[in-house]
Amino acid sequence: MRNPIIVALDVPSAAQAVELARSVAPHVGAFKVGKELFVAAGPEIVRQLRATGASVFLDLKFHDIPNTVAKAVASATRLDVQMLTIHCSGGSEMMRAAEQSAQITAKELGRPAPLVLGVTVLTSMDHAALAELGGETDVAKQVERLARSAAGAGLRGLVCSPLELPMLRKILPAEMQLVTPGIRTGAEKADDQKRTLSPQDAIAAGASWLVVGRPITAAPDPAKAAEAIAASLR
Ligand code: C5P
Repeated sequence: MRNPIIVALDVPSAAQAVELARSVAPHVGAFKVGKELFVAAGPEIVRQLRATGASVFLDLKFHDIPNTVAKAVASATRLDVQMLTIHCSGGSEMMRAAEQSAQITAKELGRPAPLVLGVTVLTSMDHAALAELGGETDVAKQVERLARSAAGAGLRGLVCSPLELPMLRKILPAEMQLVTPGIRTGAEKADDQKRTLSPQDAIAAGASWLVVGRPITAAPDPAKAAEAIAASLR
């Protein structure tokens, strides 16, 4: 089985990202480049990581008019990332445009299309925050509604919290890939994550991939921490 651990390279510089990636690479399946690192280091950091043979998850959570998102997805596909994120709340036309753009651009390049992952409701949003937006105020119901809409628009994967896994596995096609942050091993503090599961429990609940940040990146020995998580999944 492929290694499902994606390490979140949540650091402010290319040098720190490359150093961290090098130390944990033997024990993980991919690296996540998010807004902090991408805005600081640009597409070059993605090229550097890809040059080592590593898979890259570009987590920029696109949300814009369909044409703009499609073009951003085409650029990400040309950068040769293996996964990227968009906001489901951009609507089904936007999601469909993103997925089609990934497929068409990859075909032109003769490579597999990157996995376009939908983000449903940010885990920082609660009932009161949804109420402020004026729509559905039940977080679980809104997650379910957006997940169904993502599947209908042709997305092949979603980002979700560990506690949403059982519900999403029940309502989504089995081939849908679910990528889950909020992973904690128990060896560290929960930090600002409120809803967490262990790596084994998240996989058992139906996660396809685990996004792990601080349990690896803030550990005294990141390589050892990554190796221990990988071992716990074998
Ligand atoms: O350090 P930690 O393991 O909490 O890092 C989790 C990573 O996953 C971070 O990059 C964070 O931005 C991301 N993430 C999250 N919760 C979400 C979506 C993304 O923690 N709902």
